[in-house]
Amino acid sequence: MGDIRGRDFLKLGDFETADIDEILDLAFEMKREQRQWSLKGKTVIMLFFNSSLRTRTSFEIGAAHLGAQPVVLNVGQDAWNLEWEEGTIMSGTSPEHIKDAAKVLSRYGDLLAVRSFPRMQNYEQDRMDPILSSFSKYASAPLINLESAVEHPCQGLADLMTLREVFNQNTRGKKVVLSWAPHVKPLPLAVPHSFLLAAAMGGCDITVTHPLKFELEHSVMKQAEGIAKKTGGNIQVVHDQAEAFKGAEVVYAKSWLSLEHYGKVEEEMAYRATLPNWTIDEEKMALTSRAKFMHCLPIRRNVVASDAVLDHDDCVVYQQAENRLHAQKALMVKMLGEE
Ligand code: CP
Repeated sequence: MGDIRGRDFLKLGDFETADIDEILDLAFEMKREQRQWSLKGKTVIMLFFNSSLRTRTSFEIGAAHLGAQPVVLNVGQDAWNLEWEEGTIMSGTSPEHIKDAAKVLSRYGDLLAVRSFPRMQNYEQDRMDPILSSFSKYASAPLINLESAVEHPCQGLADLMTLREVFNQNTRGKKVVLSWAPHVKPLPLAVPHSFLLAAAMGGCDITVTHPLKFELEHSVMKQAEGIAKKTGGNIQVVHDQAEAFKGAEVVYAKSWLSLEHYGKVEEEMAYRATLPNWTIDEEKMALTSRAKFMHCLPIRRNVVASDAVLDHDDCVVYQQAENRLHAQKALMVKMLGEE
C-alpha cells in the first residue's frame, strides 16, 4: 500500500483508496509548503495529442517546482504524427510508430505522460484507449494518463483533494451531486468517470443526475459502486435534476456524451434539443444546502452554468484547478520515489 513507484497511473480504479489518500496527504503537505521535495535530475516528458491549458501548465510548472526538467511535445507539431496500429503498413500520414517513440522517449525521460482524447466514432475501440495502451505497452518509463477516452485520473485526484478541503478532510457521507449539463457538442466521459470514482473513494453519498440516454459506462458505475461499498459511500442515479439538487453539499457539473448516440453527433444534438434546460443557474443552486460548485474547466459560461453560479463565492473551480498542481506534484514524487 502506498508504494506506487514505477507503476503507470492510467485509471483511478487501478489503485487502492489508501494509495490515492497517501498521494493526497502528500499533496496537502506540498500545498502547505511544509518542506521541500526534490526530483532534481529527473525528466518528465509530456505528449499532447489534444489541446490543454491546466494539464499542461500545472504539470510543467509542477515539474519545475520539484527541480525536474519538463519537456512538452505537441504531437503533429513539435513531434511526428504517431501511428499506433500494430503490424500496419505505414504508408499513411504518420511517419513514426508509438512502438519506437515510446522506447526512445523512455531512454530520455524518467516519467512519460500522454493526453489522447477519443476519436468519438466507435466506443468499443475508443474505450480501449489505443494510444495510451500502446505507450503503456512499449514504454519502460512509468506513464501518466493526462486524459483519455475513459478517465482523467489527475483531474480525479484534484477533485478528491478539493472535496477533502470543502469538507475539512471528512468526505464520508457528504451529499455530492454529479450533474450532466448542456454543451454545444458531445464531450467524452473521462472527467465524470474519474470524478465518480474519486467521490466513491471519498465515501461520499453520490447522486448522479442526467437525462435518459446519458448513462455513464456500466463498468465504471459498477467499479465505483464496489469502491463505495468499501468506503461507506453510495451511488444513486436520478433523472430529475431539481430533485437531485435538494440538500446537495457539492454540485459537480459536467457535460458528457450519450453512449446511445456515440459517433452520431447530429442525432445526439437533435435528441438534446428535446430536453428541458439542464444549465445550472442560481435558482437550481438555491435548492441545495448552500452547495459548493465544482467543474474541471474549461467551462462554457451560460451554457453549462450561469455567470452568477460561476462568479459566486460558493464556486470552487479555481481552488480545484490550483489543486491540479499540488496533486500532480505529489503524484510525480510518489511515482519516482523521491521524497
Ligand atoms: N481540466 C483540464 O484537464 O483542463 P485542460 O483541458 O485545460 O488541461
